[in-house]
Amino acid sequence: MKISIIGAGYVGLVTGTCFSELGHEVVVVDINEEKVKAINSKKCPIYEPGLEEMLVRNVDSKRLRATTDIKDVVMNTDVTYIAVGTPMKEDRSIDLRYIEKASEDIGNVLKEKAGYHLVVVKSTVVPGTTENIVGATISKISGKKLGTEFGIAMNPEFLREGSAVEDFMKPDRIVIGANDEKARSILEEIYKKIDAPKLYVNIKTAEMIKYASNTFLATKISFINEIGNICKLLGINVFDVVKGMTLDHRISPYFLRAGIGFGGSCFPKDTNAIIALAKKLGYVPRLLDAVVEINETQPLRAVELLKKHISLKGKNIGVLGLAFKPNTDDVRETRAYPIIRALNEEGAVVYAYDPKAMDAFKKAYPDVKVIFCKSAEEVLKNAEAIIIATEWDEFEKLSYRNKIVVDGRYVKAAKETAKIYEGVCW
Ligand SMILES: NC(=O)c1ccc[n+]([C@@H]2O[C@H](COP(=O)([O-])OP(=O)(O)OC[C@H]3O[C@@H](n4cnc5c(N)ncnc54)[C@H](O)[C@@H]3O)[C@@H](O)[C@H]2O)c1
Repeated sequence: MKISIIGAGYVGLVTGTCFSELGHEVVVVDINEEKVKAINSKKCPIYEPGLEEMLVRNVDSKRLRATTDIKDVVMNTDVTYIAVGTPMKEDRSIDLRYIEKASEDIGNVLKEKAGYHLVVVKSTVVPGTTENIVGATISKISGKKLGTEFGIAMNPEFLREGSAVEDFMKPDRIVIGANDEKARSILEEIYKKIDAPKLYVNIKTAEMIKYASNTFLATKISFINEIGNICKLLGINVFDVVKGMTLDHRISPYFLRAGIGFGGSCFPKDTNAIIALAKKLGYVPRLLDAVVEINETQPLRAVELLKKHISLKGKNIGVLGLAFKPNTDDVRETRAYPIIRALNEEGAVVYAYDPKAMDAFKKAYPDVKVIFCKSAEEVLKNAEAIIIATEWDEFEKLSYRNKIVVDGRYVKAAKETAKIYEGVCW
């Protein structure tokens, strides 16, 4: 099948590359010329295990290319995926401006295109968006009839950064949201080579499945952080508690890793987006409000714990890890940021290191003062005390001798070797 994908970010590029690996002919479109150039010259613009090799293979075999020219690709493909960002607005509701722009662009091309074209929303969008914004905009601009001259569908993405390729090729499930048989059968064809349970639902349900899944996982994290905070007061290691909990087959062990909270491009914004939508509809989701509140205060607990051992003013404090989780260079909503901001406010001099995310962090957070180090050892050499914000494997290989360590991520080497060791929840 000939597929175009608007947005060559984490989701768009992984989706596009994997679709080409499955044998489809794929063109990814992005407004960012650098990304487009990088992809066409077989350089992966993001760090994601296994992605670059797959990208090289498929660009070489001419099944994958990138462009900035949306008109050309919509004209010459059968299906267009929308995978642009859906960030959070200042009022914490979903910002749909990129979705709106992509829909307008598609509408303008479809005005001149003969024959049926399917538009699939892959971005995470609040229920109602695919029909009321994407479908309605395309229909208005193109003058085409929804259902016969063009179709819409919603196919949420569940990949995790750091294992995105594997998650895409071997997913737990594929959710296909379509309101008519034609759209549904095209999606069935696209995914026919992937052996996974496929769930067919209507569009709004598909949109909600993504929010319910992400907010459930976010809730598990805030739940265990709350239990962990209580454990800490009682001198109990929450990790031992989790072991005991998860022997119960009803409780899965995933996302029960207590620490300094969740970051990333999805959980924070998606939880806030569904809260904002619920409130707009007149319902106050108290549980989800608490999930967000716990997540915002949790990283600051690391700084408070450190203050028990050292006054921060003028002191050299190290932060290990800037990515929101290991194996990615993504720093969106990373918990390292509120920690560093708080350390700055306390007058500490911050030394930081991350194996992959230092450039991204510099770009994303120019407002904080950080001395970036070339290695974790350099941070240890310069800092009197350390906060561990991301559990990269290499931090397990360090010796934390002579250091005060506040561990936000349960790094055993720190627990075993630090002079003074404080876990956030243990
Ligand atoms: N990152 C994840 O782990 C993940 C997982 C599941 C779902 N999602 C969802 O997928 C969507 C995309 O997320 P992402 O992380 O890939 O975002 P991203 O910011 O990495 O990528 C978005 C890309 O879209 C491009 N873009 C924006 N407007 C465009 C336009 N009009 N035409 C062409 N390109 C345009 C941007 O330049 C950027 O490269 C979001 O809704 C997100 O919530 C993300």
